[in-house]
Amino acid sequence: MNFRNLLMASAMTAAAIGFVAPAPAVAAGAKDVQLLNWWTSGGEAAALDVLKQYLAKEGYAWKDVPVAGGGGEAAMTTLKAMVAGGDPPMASQILGYFALDYAEAGKLANVNSLAKKEDWAKVLPTALQKFTTTDGNWDAIPINIHSVNWIWVNKAVMAKIGGTEPKNFAELIALMDKAKKAGVTPLALGGQPWQEAILFDSVVASTGGIGFYKKAFIDLDETALKSDTMKTAFDNLAKLRAYVDPNYAGRDWNLATAMVIKGDALMQVMGDWAKGEFKVAHKEAGADFLCYRFPGTDGSVIYNTDMFAMFKVPESQRAGQLALADASMSVAVQSAFNAIKGSVPARMDVPDTAFDMCGKKGIADVKKANAAGTFVGSMAQNYAQPPAIAEAYHDVVTKFFHGEIKTSTEAVADLYKSIEAAK
Ligand code: GAL
Repeated sequence: MNFRNLLMASAMTAAAIGFVAPAPAVAAGAKDVQLLNWWTSGGEAAALDVLKQYLAKEGYAWKDVPVAGGGGEAAMTTLKAMVAGGDPPMASQILGYFALDYAEAGKLANVNSLAKKEDWAKVLPTALQKFTTTDGNWDAIPINIHSVNWIWVNKAVMAKIGGTEPKNFAELIALMDKAKKAGVTPLALGGQPWQEAILFDSVVASTGGIGFYKKAFIDLDETALKSDTMKTAFDNLAKLRAYVDPNYAGRDWNLATAMVIKGDALMQVMGDWAKGEFKVAHKEAGADFLCYRFPGTDGSVIYNTDMFAMFKVPESQRAGQLALADASMSVAVQSAFNAIKGSVPARMDVPDTAFDMCGKKGIADVKKANAAGTFVGSMAQNYAQPPAIAEAYHDVVTKFFHGEIKTSTEAVADLYKSIEAAK
């Protein structure tokens, strides 16, 4: 299959599962940088522009391979087809265990010379290096650290209902009741499996504490997975159903964010890419919106990192690939890009001066959590377990949220069974 047919095939798969087809990619030349990515929302595109401009100044033209679809599911389908067809992109945005799979399959190139020269091992959190390196080879470049245990709140709505920051799950429910009474949708949710799974990441950590989250999702400890605490986590997730609007099913994450921006909803539980949408709408942290850690998870960072996996490419494309890696790891790009994106720099040595109050909190939180052992990979976002297990998780959580799995007891049993089957 040639390159274009491959893209068409994956576009058809993507369309079949409800995503927008990717734009045709252009083969990269010597002074080109090609990146497959799913950064197509307003905030995401604005952040990506920082990287494009930086590389343009260095004389590189940007060859975008955008595959719309939040969370990157459609992008990963496209990537798989391109790699299988022997025509991988120069680089691809990628999450956690997906990168490890491609590395193990021998598909990735390394940028060891750059990594050594700039001593990346010193400036990146150790936890991330499990995903950026394989057998000591640097083959994925982390441009940021996102975290999923955030709540994004419309400040004016909060003032109108007389709300304050919820410190535990019961207070969260009480706050949402206030919004409901005032006729505002309490919780803006995009009812897609990956988004519901993100919500459940936070609910689990809030219900059982971060130690429990780690036992269940990082260690896949049988006792934790089958515990009453997990059942309570599902009960808590079920409680949240009462606070979403009737049209939530299938909604894109950025449309849910827009509901909060406009004041049609009080809050969204979402990774800090949501902040990028507030920013492009010219809304300011502290003045127009507020960021809280999901109640009961302050002090913990449930992270995902956007990495660029470096694929094996013809020698003629190598300069572009190295330029992308170099730019993405530069302090200047990590500062400017992440201030717009909502994430925090992957490099721990980037000053927080360019960041708003939420970004400053995000940077401090990562440092604290990294030191305290509470910097933990997101199960929803492929940083706790390999793709097959993460997918099983998405599946059970979404079936439960939408009522296909009826009780929390069944959900606990199904989750354990599906994880075992996916191992
Ligand atoms: C995440 C990714 C973010 C953001 C989000 C929504 O997987 O890490 O950068 O793009 O999806 O598309």
